[in-house]
Amino acid sequence: MLGLLAVAAIAAVVLTTRGATHSTEEIVEEAEDVSDDPHIFSTHSLPTEARFMPSIGNGHIATNIFSDTVYLNGLYNGRKGESHRARIPAWANIRLNSTLTHRPFAPIYSLNTRDGVFKVTVDRERSMVTQRIYAHRFYTRAIVNQIEVYSKPYADPNLTHHDIWIAITLMPGPTSEDIVFETPIPEKLDERMIWSACGKTKESEDLVYQPLPVEVCAYWTSVPDHLVVPQHGGRVFTFAMTVDNNKTKARQELEEGEALYQKHVREWHKLYDQSSMTIEGNLKLSKIINGIWYYFLSSLPSESTNQPPERFFGLSPTGLARGGTFEDYEGHNFWDTEIWMFPSILLLYPQYAQKLLQYRLDTAYVASQLAKTTGHKGYRYPWESAYTGIEVTQPCCPDVAEYEQHISGCIAFAARQYLATTRNEDWLKHGGCSLVTHIADFWASRAVINYTTGLYDIGNVMGPDEDHRNITNSVFTNVVAGYSLYLAQYVACLCKSYFLAKDPESWADIAWSLALPYDEELDYHPQFSGYSRGEQIKQADAVLLGFPLQSTRANDLSYYEGVTRGSGPAMTWSMHTVGHLQLGDTGQANAMFNKSYEDYVREPFKVWSELRRPKIGAANFFTGMGGFLQALVFGYGGIRIHLDHLLIDKPQLPPDTSGFTIRGLKYLGANLTLDIQETQSTLSVAAVDDNWPLTYHDGRNQIRLAAGVSITLAGEGPFTIKSVPWKDCKVPVDVIGKPYLRPTGFVMWKQQQQEKGSK
Ligand SMILES: *[C@@H]1O[C@H](CO)[C@@H](O)[C@H](O)[C@H]1NC(C)=O
Ligand SMILES: *[C@@H]1O[C@H](CO)[C@@H](O)[C@H](O)[C@H]1NC(C)=O
Ligand SMILES: *[C@@H]1O[C@H](CO)[C@@H](O)[C@H](O)[C@H]1NC(C)=O
Ligand SMILES: *[C@@H]1O[C@H](CO)[C@@H](O)[C@H](O)[C@H]1NC(C)=O
Ligand SMILES: *[C@@H]1O[C@H](CO)[C@@H](O)[C@H](O)[C@H]1NC(C)=O
Ligand SMILES: *[C@@H]1O[C@H](CO)[C@@H](O)[C@H](O)[C@H]1NC(C)=O
Ligand SMILES: *[C@@H]1O[C@H](CO)[C@@H](O)[C@H](O)[C@H]1NC(C)=O
Repeated sequence: MLGLLAVAAIAAVVLTTRGATHSTEEIVEEAEDVSDDPHIFSTHSLPTEARFMPSIGNGHIATNIFSDTVYLNGLYNGRKGESHRARIPAWANIRLNSTLTHRPFAPIYSLNTRDGVFKVTVDRERSMVTQRIYAHRFYTRAIVNQIEVYSKPYADPNLTHHDIWIAITLMPGPTSEDIVFETPIPEKLDERMIWSACGKTKESEDLVYQPLPVEVCAYWTSVPDHLVVPQHGGRVFTFAMTVDNNKTKARQELEEGEALYQKHVREWHKLYDQSSMTIEGNLKLSKIINGIWYYFLSSLPSESTNQPPERFFGLSPTGLARGGTFEDYEGHNFWDTEIWMFPSILLLYPQYAQKLLQYRLDTAYVASQLAKTTGHKGYRYPWESAYTGIEVTQPCCPDVAEYEQHISGCIAFAARQYLATTRNEDWLKHGGCSLVTHIADFWASRAVINYTTGLYDIGNVMGPDEDHRNITNSVFTNVVAGYSLYLAQYVACLCKSYFLAKDPESWADIAWSLALPYDEELDYHPQFSGYSRGEQIKQADAVLLGFPLQSTRANDLSYYEGVTRGSGPAMTWSMHTVGHLQLGDTGQANAMFNKSYEDYVREPFKVWSELRRPKIGAANFFTGMGGFLQALVFGYGGIRIHLDHLLIDKPQLPPDTSGFTIRGLKYLGANLTLDIQETQSTLSVAAVDDNWPLTYHDGRNQIRLAAGVSITLAGEGPFTIKSVPWKDCKVPVDVIGKPYLRPTGFVMWKQQQQEKGSK
């Protein structure tokens, strides 16, 4: 149905009909964005591919504009691998008939990422109609539609007595196949007629962890088939749909409503006031970045809400507004969250990074059971998880569930970055110590000493490259496992006054001696033991050793660039960008940077596809967005998170830009701004936490950071920001791949083993 689309075809106009609505408006594959405001994406025609429509959401409830579906945080239907976001009919999908059937009034559609609202504006002969659609940032159970009608002064005296009629239609779509709703019940609320419908999901995810289906209730205001406005004046008509697992809450939320819109916009502005990433001199890039933060924040829970937020079920690869289908990853959580989306969120919005980790804490018990079932210790997190935390990988792909165990290491790696930048003791006390040490226990139980090499092997795994399964010593897996083990040693020390860890040194010993395949002759990392050079791979894998995991090796980059499938997912090229920047090859970095977004960002609403044009894959692909943000923050921004310092290395401008600013960077409670310009970069300090005094080093000088201080990053760098040590705990050495030497040396140990064996 989509047809082939070259970039040049973006602006081409294709006349077609849009689904069942028999629209006659002009529609294009990817419509043009005609706004020159970096925060607003405007168009005269909607994209033909409905999956390129934008979404609205607030972390509790979300929908794709004009779709027949609303999703609720944590609401899934289907047993085990069939679990997917459960469809609630879109009782919030109100259309202006003039945009469905009438040609003469060319509507303008726009997504305002700053205000968190989608608008439809129709300039008619006698009236101006503006429809605002938004998922309320404070009344989070609600999706609101406001239709504002203003009549225009009209010259024809014969028409003066006519009211203005605006035909509208509620299009909730068919009944849900996921939820059995009772027949909607009408009732009166103040003077309004409202409807309610409660239902239950058809199938629970797991009979042990979720014996009962989940209840959900929706309320919505009755929608007439037309709105009437007197000739002189204007009016705003407000319609809302609210959803919650608790019927009382859903109803209460419908009762609220003073200055609804203003309150909503204020909440969005508060979010953007905390932090931002801005680009100067490149409207296209500015828009892409603003789009990404808008989509991310739309799937993250509001901080201040009318009713307390519910448990948060994480960021899945297509966000909260999607995930009903197989191709949109069913709303499950993967490593995508921790490795791809988490790091940039952590630096700008650490409170949300904590929410993401909380989802893993909430499902820790189930992870401990999974480890037991597979004969291991500690926490083994499932490759895919949804409501209960059990393994919900789709029936298609049992291999990924069995072998892609690196997910547990990815979670520990996220925890490592969280601790490095927040030193949140409270988090350690309330689950952090336990999470980190149990993941280490899992890896310790997976690693097997190899008498020939004196190294620990981890077998029967799969790295991020899903083209190779059941392999031994996946370099990516072993490095995240090694980091997990070292982190546990460190955390055991941090937690020692209130949490007992058995033998932290043994974790470090295993990490030190984990095998790390390396080809000395060709000076590169084979992706796993026995990898044959030249074999094609699906996506960035060994390259991730450079970033985010370790130091970059030129040969890994150049070699794997050549064997990575061109059809691979979006985030691969972002990591190649970071690698080349680290090595100082700006030209190649810029080419990779271009490759990381050009073919994935779909107009006009900057929705990301998983695959390059003309293919789509998953949409809206948060994972690709996460990779792209990392190319900016850690690549061009040059930021590196270490356990005992923050590094800023060779900050430079992204291509075709004249300024790049990251405002509201949070490091150990301090609020920093990194401003990169053509000629110089500046670090300015808005606040420092008294508990964590910060010192800046540029290789020669030291400066104590304090509110109001502004420093030009002069000289070669690297520039580091450091605080006092955290407790008396030494940060781990983080070296892996060395033969086992402790406690008495591997050779002696091996002899003992052999003696034992011969007895
Ligand atoms: C108003 O209506 C009268 C009577 O039907 C008609 O003669 C006149 O032309 C109309 N005026 C306009 C401006 O259409
Ligand atoms: C508005 O459009 C809907 C759907 O196309 C249609 O059923 C309805 O009759 C229209 N209403 C008016 C007043 O034209
Ligand atoms: C539903 O919400 C109401 C109002 O917040 C609360 O009083 C009630 O305890 C909740 N019911 C359940 C089952 O949680
Ligand atoms: C951080 O500082 C910037 C000014 O540089 C300010 O705009 C922002 O609101 C501050 N953020 C927080 C969370 O205080
Ligand atoms: C130990 O490592 C060697 C060299 O990598 C390998 O050939 C051998 O199969 C490994 N032994 C076991 C028991 O896995
Ligand atoms: C995976 O490899 C092991 C050997 O390490 C083998 O015993 C097992 O059958 C393999 N599994 C599959 C599904 O091929
Ligand atoms: C970026 O990619 C696009 C499309 O792939 C291409 O047309 C453009 O020339 C590239 N720009 C740079 C600077 O490489």
